[in-house]
Amino acid sequence: MKEEINWEPWNEYMDETKGHRKVCGVDLIELAEEYGTPLYVLFGAIIEKNYRRYQTLEEKYKNHLLSYAVKANTTFALIKLLSGYGAGAEVASEYELEFVLDAGVPPEKIRANGNCKSRYFLEECIQKGIVINADPEEELYTINNIAQRLEKRAKVNLRLAGFPFNNITAPNIFTSGKWSKFGTDLERARDIFRRVGDLNCLNLQGLMVHLGSQIADTNAYSKALSIIVELAKDARNAGLEIKEIDLGGGFGISYLGKEEWEKTKARIKEEQDFTWRDAPLGYEYDLGSKKLVWGGEEFYSPLTPDLCIKALFDGALRQELEDMGSPLLVLEPGRGMVGNAGLTIFRICHVGTIPGGQNIIHVDGGANCSSQNIIMPEFLHRIEIINEVRREGSFDAFIAGNLCYTGDLLSRIKTTVKGKPEQGDLIAFYDTGAYEDFLSSNANSFPRPAKAMVTKDGKHRLLVRREEYADIFHRDVDWGSCLS
Ligand SMILES: Cc1ncc(COP(=O)(O)O)c(C=O)c1O
Repeated sequence: MKEEINWEPWNEYMDETKGHRKVCGVDLIELAEEYGTPLYVLFGAIIEKNYRRYQTLEEKYKNHLLSYAVKANTTFALIKLLSGYGAGAEVASEYELEFVLDAGVPPEKIRANGNCKSRYFLEECIQKGIVINADPEEELYTINNIAQRLEKRAKVNLRLAGFPFNNITAPNIFTSGKWSKFGTDLERARDIFRRVGDLNCLNLQGLMVHLGSQIADTNAYSKALSIIVELAKDARNAGLEIKEIDLGGGFGISYLGKEEWEKTKARIKEEQDFTWRDAPLGYEYDLGSKKLVWGGEEFYSPLTPDLCIKALFDGALRQELEDMGSPLLVLEPGRGMVGNAGLTIFRICHVGTIPGGQNIIHVDGGANCSSQNIIMPEFLHRIEIINEVRREGSFDAFIAGNLCYTGDLLSRIKTTVKGKPEQGDLIAFYDTGAYEDFLSSNANSFPRPAKAMVTKDGKHRLLVRREEYADIFHRDVDWGSCLS
């Protein structure tokens, strides 16, 4: 019997067999048994659906490029799959660059980012004709010098920041305001347009902004785009031809339903014992109003990529872009492409209470397997016991990882699981397709987990194997020499 679960996008793909959760026709218990836990799982059908939703840009604005931000999930099969659909890649290091080139992404579909790019990375981009998003301003001169030495002309977009936005996402992932380590201040742009003409080996051909990640409000995109369109006119007046506008990534996904998320936000502020140490996670103290205001990530977004694109182009912007000669519009989606297309399976080692009396579930992977908790302590996921989905009752608990520090918690906000969890149960964290292993490490010398893919036709295969003892220690050359 198909259970009705109002979980976007999962309910469409979910099923159940003998109490086991099935997704896209595959029993998750079978995956855990075959590949071990913790385990990352990606679902090809959802990735394709996301890509098609981004592709609606085709109807709205023809001259565009979707460059998948590979940092969101740096897996060869995924890059190949997206590249097969026609996507390019956004890269932030020479290693990501080499990886996407190996996966067959054409150089003209690659965009290079980073606020501290290595010389080698810049050289590679210049040699291969890859567009570089220059960041910070000083990098323009470095790029010009390198290009001069290589006797090439570098293709460059100027990455901008200092936009008039407040709290459009959590501070750690907000990259376009005044407090940003990225980009050149908007106020400096016109001055740069005048001076860049002296840089003979650099073609300033575009403007770029990446607003931040998990942006749930498209108004910020429309506003940023109209500011950029105005700047592009000034660039033109200064003799530059702006052929490209790169709006970065950032479209948000829903980690929880709307009501559940609103309720959770209220409970964080009001309810004792709902968060770890009663901390008002995600809230900031506003000095002006002397009140707690929400300053964290929004874990609900009303918009899917197609709706974001519709909202962005239903206004006057398309006309403005066309008036500019229809520059190439680049989007660099990461989370919006893969975030809701993956889940992580952990095994429960113990269910107990902490000295303070609250319930705690201990699982066999830590924050090193679930990086978003490190970046955002308030991180939340839909969670489910997958080996007995029909179990009765509910259980509120914090969830602890297996690393040796107290802050290693996979949920600092009390989570309700359906049914009373037991030792040995398997538990799935949904919507972990993006940034889950971004900061993965061998903390406490644990191996990094395997990654599997469930394909559209309901088959599964291993993409990345789980590490073994030698993988963990192979860089220790002294240990290596003892073995030989
Ligand atoms: C320059 C740039 N582009 C794109 C992205 C992808 O962002 P998201 O995953 O939120 O779509 C990032 C993420 O940090 C980024 O830094």
